[in-house]
Amino acid sequence: MDRRDFLKAAGAGAMVMAAPGSLLAALSGLTAEEVERRVAEVVPKLTLSEKIDLMAGKISRTLLGAFGVGDGGHGYTGQTVGNARLGIPRVLCTDGPRGVGFMYTATCFPVGMCRGAAWDPELEARVGSVMGYEERAIGGNMLLAPCINVLWHPRWGRAQETYGEDPYHLGAMGAGFVNGVQEHVMACAKHYAVNNVEDSRMFVNAVVDERTLREIFLPHFKKCVDAKVASVMSAYNDVNGDLCSDSMHLMRDILKGEWEFDGFVVSDWENAVEDTVGAAKAGLDLEMPRAKFYGRKLKAAVESGQVPESVIDEAASRMCRQLFRFVGPDFAAGYDKKRMACPEHAAVALESARKGIVLLKNENSALPLVRGEVKTVAVLGEVAKEKNIGDHGSSIVRPPYIVSALEGLTDRAGSVRIIYESGKNLAAAKAAAGKADAVVVVAGYTYKEEGEGRDRASLALPDAQQSLILAAAEANQRCVVVLESGSAIAMDPWIGKVPAVVMAWYPGMEGGHAIADVVFGDVNPSGKLPIVFPRSEDQLAKFDNGSKEVKYGRYHGYRYMEKHGAEPLFPFGFGLSYTTYQYANLKLDKKSAGRSGKVVARVDVTNTGKMAGEEVVELYAGCPGSKVDRAKKELKGFARVALAPGETKTVAIELSVPELAYYNVDAGAWEVEEAEYIISLGPSSCEDDLLKERLKVTGA
Ligand code: GLC
Repeated sequence: MDRRDFLKAAGAGAMVMAAPGSLLAALSGLTAEEVERRVAEVVPKLTLSEKIDLMAGKISRTLLGAFGVGDGGHGYTGQTVGNARLGIPRVLCTDGPRGVGFMYTATCFPVGMCRGAAWDPELEARVGSVMGYEERAIGGNMLLAPCINVLWHPRWGRAQETYGEDPYHLGAMGAGFVNGVQEHVMACAKHYAVNNVEDSRMFVNAVVDERTLREIFLPHFKKCVDAKVASVMSAYNDVNGDLCSDSMHLMRDILKGEWEFDGFVVSDWENAVEDTVGAAKAGLDLEMPRAKFYGRKLKAAVESGQVPESVIDEAASRMCRQLFRFVGPDFAAGYDKKRMACPEHAAVALESARKGIVLLKNENSALPLVRGEVKTVAVLGEVAKEKNIGDHGSSIVRPPYIVSALEGLTDRAGSVRIIYESGKNLAAAKAAAGKADAVVVVAGYTYKEEGEGRDRASLALPDAQQSLILAAAEANQRCVVVLESGSAIAMDPWIGKVPAVVMAWYPGMEGGHAIADVVFGDVNPSGKLPIVFPRSEDQLAKFDNGSKEVKYGRYHGYRYMEKHGAEPLFPFGFGLSYTTYQYANLKLDKKSAGRSGKVVARVDVTNTGKMAGEEVVELYAGCPGSKVDRAKKELKGFARVALAPGETKTVAIELSVPELAYYNVDAGAWEVEEAEYIISLGPSSCEDDLLKERLKVTGA
C-alpha cells in the first residue's frame, strides 16, 4: 500500500488524536508507596512454582518458535504467564528501537542513528511516546528499546539501532526516549553490556579494564536507570570472562548495587542464559523467550539449596513492582489500535527524519535545488527506489507505507521534472545526468549489507555505486550524493568530485519526503554527526568481529582519532546548514567551582545567513593537566536552538562538575580532579570551531 492509499483508507485527519503524551496516564494510577505495599502483600502469597513461573517467558502452544503467538491470539515477541490468582499481569512485549515490531502495522521511525543525529532529547521523548502509545494499543506493556550500545566501530551491523558513539550523547538520547515510552509502557535499555559486534556476538568475550568499562560502556545505562527505566536487557556476549546474564559484577555490584536499579533484568533471546544458578545469583530476573535454564531447573536449584529462595523473592518482587507500576485495570482504556501509524504519528517520524538528516558538504550552493531555478533533476541509483528502512532483524517494523527517496523527490518536485535511471546502464545514467540541471545520486546500503547478526564488510560504497557517482559528477557539475546507511561511509574515492553530500541514514517510513524536503530547501538541514566519519578504517580502533576474545581499549571514535592525531573526513558533531552561524562571547558563570558544583556556560549564537534554521551547540571538556591518561576532550553537554535570519540568542548549557570525573579504579569511585579544565563550545568537535574558557575545579 502506498502512502496515498493508506491516508485515504485511514481517512486522514479523521483520527486526529490528542498529543500522545496527554493521553491517560500510563502509570497504573498507584502511587509508589501503593506499589510497594502491593508487592509486599502479593509476593509472599506466591508459591515457589508461581514465583519461578514469573521469571521466564512462555511460548504459547501454538507456533513460531522464539516468536510465539501467545494463547488467546496474542502476538508478542515475549510473554510471561503472570499470575491470575493474585492479579499479577503478564509481561507482553515486542521490539523495538524503530517502532512496534513483530506482526503489527506500526509507525516506522528513522533508525536510532538518524534520531541520534538530531541531538534532540525532547523530540526523542515524543518519538518514544508514540512508540509507547502504539505498543500499548496492541496490548503490549513493554517495548524492547532503547538500544544504547556504544558505537565502537561503524562496521557494527546494528550501528543503526543505537544513537551514536559517545556515552554522554547516548545517555541524553536514551533517557529522553525512556521518558517518552514510559508515559505508556515499560521500556528496556539494551544490551547490557559491551555488545559491539554482530558476527561473534554469541561467543565473544569482551575484555575491558574497569575504568574503560565505567567511563565508556556504562554511563548511558546509568542515565537510563536514573530515568527509572523499568528493565535492562543483558547481552549475549561475555564481559571479562562472565556471560552478561550471569555477571555478578555487571548486575549485582554495579546495576543493582551501586546504581540501586529497582527494575528487572531480562535476558536477550534464546541462548543468552547458560547457567541456572549463576544467572539467578547474579540477578537475572527474567529468562526470555522461554524457560531453558530457569523453570524446573531453577526450582530444583532452589530445592537443593543451590539458589536461596530470597533470590527468587527478589526477582518476583522486581517484576511485580514494574508491572504494578505500569499495568492497572484500565490498561487498555484510551488506546486505539486504529491509530497505529496514523498521520499524527507519521508526522513525528517525518519530523525526526528531517532533523536527523546531516548536510555534510555543500559547495557552490549546489543545494538546495530551488524549484523554478532548477527545471530538471536526474535521480540515479538503485538505492533511490529502495524502501530503505533498515535492518530486517528483531528491530524490523512494518509500516503501512514507505516513501523511498525517489518517491519523495517525485512527490515534492512541484514544477521540477524528475528523470530516473537506476545506474545499471552507466551510459544511460550519464546521459540523463548530462541533460538535467542537477543530478541526485542516491547511494548506500540496505538491510542486505548490514543488520542484526551481520556486520558490514567495509566502510566503502559498493564499486558500482562509486562508479555511478563518478560518472554522474563527470556529466553534471551540480551532482548531489544522498547516502542511506546505518553509520559512517568512507568517501575518499569520489567525494572530491561532488559539490554536495547529504547523510540520510535509514530515514523511516517518511524518509523519502524528508530527503526531498532538504534537497528542495523546504527544510533547512540541522543534523549533526553522532559518530565520527573517518577517511578510512585504518584511522579507527581495530574492529574484530571474529575472535573469541576482543580487548576494548579506552579510546574509540573521535576520542581515538584525536588521541592519534588523525584527521577525520567529517568530525563528530559536524553538520552544515543552508544558513551560517557565528559563535561569540563564551562565558562561564564562574571561573572556579567545587567538585560537586555546577557551571553554566553561555555563548551567543547568531544566524548570519538568509534562512531560518536550528543549530546544535556542543560543549566539550578536557583536562590537559590530568594526572591520568584522558581523552583530549569529551562531550559533556549540548543544546538545540532555533534562529531566524540575523537573530542572536544566548545559549546556556549547564555543566555538572561531577560529569568531569574519571573512574579511579584504585579507589573504586569516580574522582573529579582538582585541576584546570578547558571548556569548549561550538558547532562540532572540530578544534578550529571551538571557543574555549578555563575552569578551575577546587574543593568540594
Ligand atoms: C534479539 C536482539 C534483541 C531483541 C530480542 C527480541 O536477539 O538481540 O535486541 O530485543 O532478540 O527480539
